[in-house]
Amino acid sequence: MSAPVDPTTTPAWEKLTQLASDLRPDLRGWFAADPGRAERFSLTAGDLYVDLSKNLVDDAVLAALVELGEQVGLAERRDAMYAGEKINVTENRSVLHTALRRPRSDSLVVDGTDVVVQVHEVLDKVYDFANRVRSGEWKGVTGAQIKTVVNIGIGGSDLGPVMVYEALKPYVQAGLECRFVSNIDPTDVAEKTADLNPATTLFIVASKTFTTLETLTNARMAREWLLRKLRDAGSLDGSERMDADAISKHFVAVSTALDKVAAFGIDPANAFGFWDWVGGRYSVDSAVGTSLAVALGPDNFADFLAGFNAIDRHFAEAPLAENVPALMGLLNVWYVNFFKAGSHAVLPYAQYLHRFAAYLQQLTMESNGKGVRTDGSEVVTETGEIFWGEPGTNGQHAFYQLIHQGTQLIPADFIAVATPAHPTKDGDADVHELFLANFFAQTKALAFGKTADEVRAEGTADAIVPARVFPGNRPTTSIMAPALTPSVVGQLIALYEHITFTQGVVWGINSFDQWGVELGKQLAMQIAPAVAGDADALAAQDASTQALVSYYLANRARS
Ligand code: F6P
Repeated sequence: MSAPVDPTTTPAWEKLTQLASDLRPDLRGWFAADPGRAERFSLTAGDLYVDLSKNLVDDAVLAALVELGEQVGLAERRDAMYAGEKINVTENRSVLHTALRRPRSDSLVVDGTDVVVQVHEVLDKVYDFANRVRSGEWKGVTGAQIKTVVNIGIGGSDLGPVMVYEALKPYVQAGLECRFVSNIDPTDVAEKTADLNPATTLFIVASKTFTTLETLTNARMAREWLLRKLRDAGSLDGSERMDADAISKHFVAVSTALDKVAAFGIDPANAFGFWDWVGGRYSVDSAVGTSLAVALGPDNFADFLAGFNAIDRHFAEAPLAENVPALMGLLNVWYVNFFKAGSHAVLPYAQYLHRFAAYLQQLTMESNGKGVRTDGSEVVTETGEIFWGEPGTNGQHAFYQLIHQGTQLIPADFIAVATPAHPTKDGDADVHELFLANFFAQTKALAFGKTADEVRAEGTADAIVPARVFPGNRPTTSIMAPALTPSVVGQLIALYEHITFTQGVVWGINSFDQWGVELGKQLAMQIAPAVAGDADALAAQDASTQALVSYYLANRARS
């Protein structure tokens, strides 16, 4: 793979530097002077209608951003990713999450193997399993039907499944429920299993590597809970044979390391594989989504995958100037590098998307929080933003103050759907319409603000006028879709995957490794003996860690 282009040496960067220094943001004036602005800066991708017009750009800036995409080789890098080139250089891996959602009729041969065939073999196995659980054909050890599926995983083996489960609640089969255990805080597994009937509970242990401390610890605790509860209920006789039978009927696994799954005691027949070319944070559309296939059903899961694929095709085929993920990624570069924006808000006006920002935090920050480029050299610009957000209108009553009147520039994406899952009235008022009025109002307020004259004209006392002025020119992108369907959720995820990719290409970084999470894991293993009371291990720690661990040892109450 060729060395990354230094974006700051491109003619487009020079142009953007000049444009940024000349820019006098004036969304009011720009809209007033240009009746075609909204239409010209609005695009569609799949079912998504995306309005970029309230961003701090004019035609020249957008053109220069597109040139930047061209000059850093965005299209070539995208094509290399889609073709299975080993663009994850530090792990020497292909990056092929886009293959996970290719239709069965496609073919993609990488290193002599048609990965689309592999993908559909696993999907068929997942769908068969999902159908058996949904129909009640799959029975627990007592012969009872499964009612609760508990996914045990963390990071990419948790955040995607939780987020999508929450987003698509209306599609969950009646009588089935999913829960998600991730944290190694023992509270998590204790709370999630407290009211469960082991006879009707099925655990999915999801871990790409099947070595993750949190997941394996939680899986062992769940296994112990299952056997203990079943024994207490008289459903098991304590024999190894019956224990193994119970485990095989109540535990399945998702992993790329099927040998380790077998070592855990899970029947390989009940394990769903994927491949090292799927990054954890890009894996919800692989077998990692097995809990979703069970809860939502194979047809809905297939629609979910088709949604990703629609955006994959758009990203592959649309010219850069009309390419929504590319433009949104380039706009993020514009704000991070030319306006020093340090964070980016994602504000879904859809309560069902309440875990979307948390999901995006791993996708974007584990991908683009990097300080070296693909050739090992230091980055030449700022990289990565802090992604955050909460569903509207809750955020409005919490942190929007800072977005409207604070001193930091916080680009924000607003997401809404036209048709609600629950059409409800409050008297004569359609509640979804009240909700959407807020969605429309916020981007308008952020863009156009409120001048001192307007505040004064409302009769505000002079002394208070400054506090009530809204500066405006706060950039937003509005994303709308017809409804929150499985396909639309897939489209939204793929959109942000490709936005993230675009930014990574401009910055010349590897968006697909995550070495930055390793040191803390290693140190936890070194500190664990000290926490368990080993004096030598404690003495080997730095002074601050020693004091903190000593506080713990002195204050831990044991019953
Ligand atoms: O520690 C970070 C990480 O490696 C993530 O990238 C990954 O999604 C998560 O841990 C879980 O990993 P696994 O699926 O292998 O258990």
